[in-house]
Amino acid sequence: MELKFDRRSLLKKGLFTLGGVALAPHLTMGAFGNSPQIIDGQGRFYYSPMLREHVIFPAEPAEIKAKLNANENPYGPPMSARKAVADSVYLGNRYAWKEMYELVNKIAKKEGVTEKHIMMGPGSSDLLEKTALVMFMKGGNVVSADPCYMSLIKVAEATGASWKAIPVKKDHSHDLDAMEAAVDSETKLVYICNPNNPTGAVTSASELREFCKRVSKKVPVFVDEAYMELVEGGATESVVDLVAEGYDVIVARTFSKIMGMAGLRIGYMAALPETLDKIQEITRGGMGISYTSIFAAIAAMDDAEFQVMTRKKNTAAKEYLYAELKKMNFDYIPSYTNFVMFPIVWDGKEYLKKMADENVAVRSFDIMDKTWCRVSIGTMDEMKMFVSALKGIS
Ligand SMILES: Cc1ncc(COP(=O)(O)O)c(C=O)c1O
Repeated sequence: MELKFDRRSLLKKGLFTLGGVALAPHLTMGAFGNSPQIIDGQGRFYYSPMLREHVIFPAEPAEIKAKLNANENPYGPPMSARKAVADSVYLGNRYAWKEMYELVNKIAKKEGVTEKHIMMGPGSSDLLEKTALVMFMKGGNVVSADPCYMSLIKVAEATGASWKAIPVKKDHSHDLDAMEAAVDSETKLVYICNPNNPTGAVTSASELREFCKRVSKKVPVFVDEAYMELVEGGATESVVDLVAEGYDVIVARTFSKIMGMAGLRIGYMAALPETLDKIQEITRGGMGISYTSIFAAIAAMDDAEFQVMTRKKNTAAKEYLYAELKKMNFDYIPSYTNFVMFPIVWDGKEYLKKMADENVAVRSFDIMDKTWCRVSIGTMDEMKMFVSALKGIS
């Protein structure tokens, strides 16, 4: 049995109160106004044919000692960005047009495109959603992997599109052949999340590149690279150079992960100017970004030291987690991100409650016939706390 709840009925039931409401946007993988939230017979959020999420209320323990549920960067914001925020707050009575141009210019140089190829947003979620709104206003379908990050898909569906969900392969990478075969005359966009959330798995860069070249001749291909730069050498795997070469590829990036600025809300897309013009005809890029965040972003981009440190510490804490999971005989999906998925033997809700009792916040999903824990990579101390809690309940 599946039940559809809109936001109002969830509020009436108290499911979005207190701890619930604090976590609602990412629990629902995007906040979608009044679009129905489906809860299945087992009280799980239903996202897709393959993906369900276990939730408990309140969603977070009152005191969290290890916050490992939102794939945040525990080291941010960089000191350089903090200083930039403090130094620029006095300018907050003005619109930051000139400074925004400076930031766009910096991003364009980094990505090897012109300023016209860049659209800014308060986080990449905003850009995923705006793209979906514009692309699917007249219906059509969106092709993506299942499971994948649901932000764009949910808005596409709420706008009137249908979703062609293509199961990932056994190794959790995108089934690019099946996705290409699924593109039809009604397809308005293909969405790829690489590395993927919630699996953390990666799809071969060379295969994805060829896929983008072929498929973008028929429909735009949206590649969400939120986690790309968190991995050593990650940036070289990006497909952003295809944008410069004139392919109809849209690449989304965020300052939330590698730059440690999730709460400062800043992200961007690189795409062909004519594709961005369509999106910006009815939406505005960059208007939701505060003066202070623009300065923070400019400072963070110059702070190579912080990015190198984040990559190193993320890798070290992930390696530690892998070793401990192996010792406890847990399998895991090799991750190219700052989170790790591994199958658990407990019921998802029971597991979340046990971890919450230890003041550890994580997530739990059902994918196909398995229940998984998705644990974000925090500091080494947080990972030790997580491992000790896991040992305690094992
Ligand atoms: C794959 C993916 N894309 C986009 C986002 C959105 O990030 P933000 O809106 O903070 O830029 C996230 C957030 O976790 C994500 O996992």
